[in-house]
Amino acid sequence: MMLIPSVLTAALALLPSTAFAVNKSASELTSYNPDTLPYNGTMNFCIGAKNDNGACKSTDDYLADLNALANYTDSVRTYATSDCNTLENLLPALSQASHNFSAYIGVWPTDDAHFGQEKQALSQFLPKYGVNNIKGITVGSEVLYRNDLSASALADRINDVRGLVKSFGFDVPVGTADSWNLWAAGAGDASIQASDFIMSNDFPYWQGQNTSNMTNTFISDTLTALDRVQHVKGTNNVQFLVGETGWPTGGPSYGEADTSNDIAKQFYHEALCQILKKGIDVYYFEAFDESYKGTDSNVEPHFGAFYSNRVPKFSLNCTQAS
Ligand SMILES: *[C@@H]1O[C@H](CO)[C@@H](O)[C@H](O)[C@H]1NC(C)=O
Ligand SMILES: *[C@@H]1O[C@H](CO)[C@@H](O)[C@H](O)[C@H]1NC(C)=O
Ligand SMILES: *[C@@H]1O[C@H](CO)[C@@H](O)[C@H](O)[C@H]1NC(C)=O
Ligand SMILES: *[C@@H]1O[C@H](CO)[C@@H](O)[C@H](O)[C@H]1NC(C)=O
Ligand SMILES: *[C@@H]1O[C@H](CO)[C@@H](O)[C@H](O)[C@H]1NC(C)=O
Ligand SMILES: *[C@@H]1O[C@H](CO)[C@@H](O)[C@H](O)[C@H]1NC(C)=O
Ligand SMILES: *[C@@H]1O[C@H](CO)[C@@H](O)[C@H](O)[C@H]1NC(C)=O
Repeated sequence: MMLIPSVLTAALALLPSTAFAVNKSASELTSYNPDTLPYNGTMNFCIGAKNDNGACKSTDDYLADLNALANYTDSVRTYATSDCNTLENLLPALSQASHNFSAYIGVWPTDDAHFGQEKQALSQFLPKYGVNNIKGITVGSEVLYRNDLSASALADRINDVRGLVKSFGFDVPVGTADSWNLWAAGAGDASIQASDFIMSNDFPYWQGQNTSNMTNTFISDTLTALDRVQHVKGTNNVQFLVGETGWPTGGPSYGEADTSNDIAKQFYHEALCQILKKGIDVYYFEAFDESYKGTDSNVEPHFGAFYSNRVPKFSLNCTQAS
């Protein structure tokens, strides 16, 4: 009996550390029996660059974030490199936390001046800290959804960042994150072509879905996005993950979607724990409530899985709902 865990551990250690879509087509995954899957996806968290009071996070603030998350994950996602000195302050924290963390770091691709500052931060801090703790670089977040750039202009920026990173001698996956429906509609094909990985964002709350329909909406939308990525890449073996999802615990309803800790918990344990069993990694948006984003009358400050004091709002353990 004692042999089984070590055999499993050895097998798991051979799997690539980067995200991939279990090598099965989206349609196979729709009806996939999770008990026969050789591995699960992992739950991870998006973290903001500012503290609850709106001040930029220091390395110590990131360390406190990571240590609060350490029982649940070993990876986080951030959004910019130069803004709030995110890269400079985050990178040392990743290896100093109570266990070793990795991160998907973000680069803001618009406008030209901002993109230049972001690349400058990469040039300064990747050679300084190395890339061992960097899982990938997302160029842009919902750029296509906001119509900030065309899919081919975003592809150019993705290639630009990959070239820059390679020029330092580093080989780091470079991709992007956008709303599931843009991927599904084929509006981002040129960006998919240019990306080493694709993140799909999906918030059934913003689709006005109630508790009866939120889980099937999430699973179906995510697999529809995956299907398009597999189609464009011409293989099922793609790096695909959920880049943002979550449910607000306060603020107003949106359509039939209400807000509460109970609904967020139900969404987490039904929808997200289920997609993990399909082998897809999730980055939950977001780790901590951010009061500076607004008041109780809007939802933005209430997306945290944890309160802003870094106490979890509900069980985050997929094998133990309460
Ligand atoms: C996925 O399948 C391809 C083709 O059969 C194979 O080369 C690759 O190693 C597989 N990847 C994983 C993660 O199983
Ligand atoms: C995947 O996670 C489930 C719990 O959600 C667990 O029962 C199962 O053993 C896990 N599978 C693997 C291969 O680790
Ligand atoms: C992590 O889990 C351990 C064991 O359950 C517990 O003692 C500790 O307080 C937890 N740490 C945090 C930061 O939640
Ligand atoms: C931390 O993890 C990364 C990859 O996840 C690895 O490359 C690095 O060597 C690890 N660092 C330490 C100190 O274990
Ligand atoms: C959720 O919405 C669906 C479709 O509108 C409806 O059939 C169902 O009764 C609703 N469930 C709840 C709990 O409101
Ligand atoms: C419930 O979710 C399914 C699957 O995403 C969708 O087809 C259906 O339109 C949704 N129902 C409502 C009332 O939105
Ligand atoms: C999650 O729950 C399982 C089952 O109760 C337990 O064995 C495990 O230690 C828990 N993990 C954490 C991080 O609390």
